[in-house]
Amino acid sequence: MRSVADLTAALRGSGYLADRGLSTALHLGLALDRPVLLEGEVGVGKTEVAKTLATVLGRDLIRLQCYEGIDTHQALYEWDYARQMLQIRALSEADLAGDEAVESLYGPRFLVERPLLKAVRAGDRAVLLIDEVDRADDEFEAFLLELLSDFAITIPEIGTIAAKRPPLVILTSNRTRDLHDALKRRCLYHWVGYPSPEREIEVVLERVPRASRQLATKVVAAVTRLRELDLAKPPGVAETIDWARGLDVLGAGDLDAETAADTLGTVIKDRDDLELVQGRLPDVVGAAVAG
Ligand SMILES: Nc1ncnc2c1ncn2[C@@H]1O[C@H](COP(=O)(O)OP(=O)(O)O)[C@@H](O)[C@H]1O
Ligand SMILES: [Mg+2]
Repeated sequence: MRSVADLTAALRGSGYLADRGLSTALHLGLALDRPVLLEGEVGVGKTEVAKTLATVLGRDLIRLQCYEGIDTHQALYEWDYARQMLQIRALSEADLAGDEAVESLYGPRFLVERPLLKAVRAGDRAVLLIDEVDRADDEFEAFLLELLSDFAITIPEIGTIAAKRPPLVILTSNRTRDLHDALKRRCLYHWVGYPSPEREIEVVLERVPRASRQLATKVVAAVTRLRELDLAKPPGVAETIDWARGLDVLGAGDLDAETAADTLGTVIKDRDDLELVQGRLPDVVGAAVAG
C-alpha cells in the first residue's frame, strides 16, 4: 500500500469507509512500524477497521480481546495440563519418570499459544488487534508496553522467542478509563469520531444495499439527532445499520414517528434512554425530515 489514498481505496473495496485521518494513521503505523491506538465511542468502527485492514493486507488477524482481570497467561501462553497429565501417566507406566522426561513435559508440544505469542511468532505476516485495552487493568497495560517495545517473549522452559519484524498492532479503547501516557507515547494515536452524515449514509448503503438513499438519509439524520441528546448509550454506526436493516425488513419506505417507535429497540438499548427518546420521537424524526 503505497499511499494513504491507496489504503483508503483498498479498505473501501472491502466495505470499510475510512476518512482521511484514519487512513493516514494506519498508513503511518505501517510505514513507521508503530502500534496505532484507536480511541472512540462504542460502535464507531474501531474493531472493524482492524479486521478489514488485515484482509486488505492479506495478513492473518490475531485478536486479543481484553477484559477485566485478563492476565499475562491468558494473553501469552499456557501449558496444556491435561496433555501433561496424560504424558506423566504414560511415563510412569513405562517407568521413565527421570529428570529428562519431566523436562520434556515443558517442551513445545505442551505449549498452548495465546494471541500475543502467536503474534510474535507470526511477525509481519499478522495484524495484531488488542481490542478494548481500557478494560484490562494497569498491570496488564504495563506488561503490554514492555511487549510492544521489544516484541520478544521469554518462556523460562523454552527460551526467548522474538519477532524478526513486528506485526502491525492496532489497539482500541472505548475510553472507559484513561490509558497511561507511556502506552500512548509508544503508539500513534487516532481519535475515531462518529462519521459525518454523508459518510454514514454511504456506510448504510454499503451494508444494507436494499435500503434506498432516501431512507438511509433519514435514518442517519435521526441517529445524528439521537447522539445530540444526553443518552447513556448513544447509538453507534452498528445501530444505524441495524435500524436501516430493520426498517427494510419491515418494508418501511419511510421513517415517521410511529415506525420509529416500533423499531426503537434496534437503536436504543437502555431503559432510561428509551423513556427519554420516546417522548421526543416527532422531534427526532422531524429532524430527519428537515435534514
Ligand atoms: N466506516 C465504516 N465503514 C463500514 N462499516 C462501518 C464503519 N464504521 C462502522 N461500521 C460498522 O459498524 C459496526 C460496528 O463497528 P465496530 O468496529 O464493532 O465498533 P467499535 O469497535 O468502535 O465499537 C461494524 O460491524 C461495521 O459494520
Ligand atoms: Mg470494538
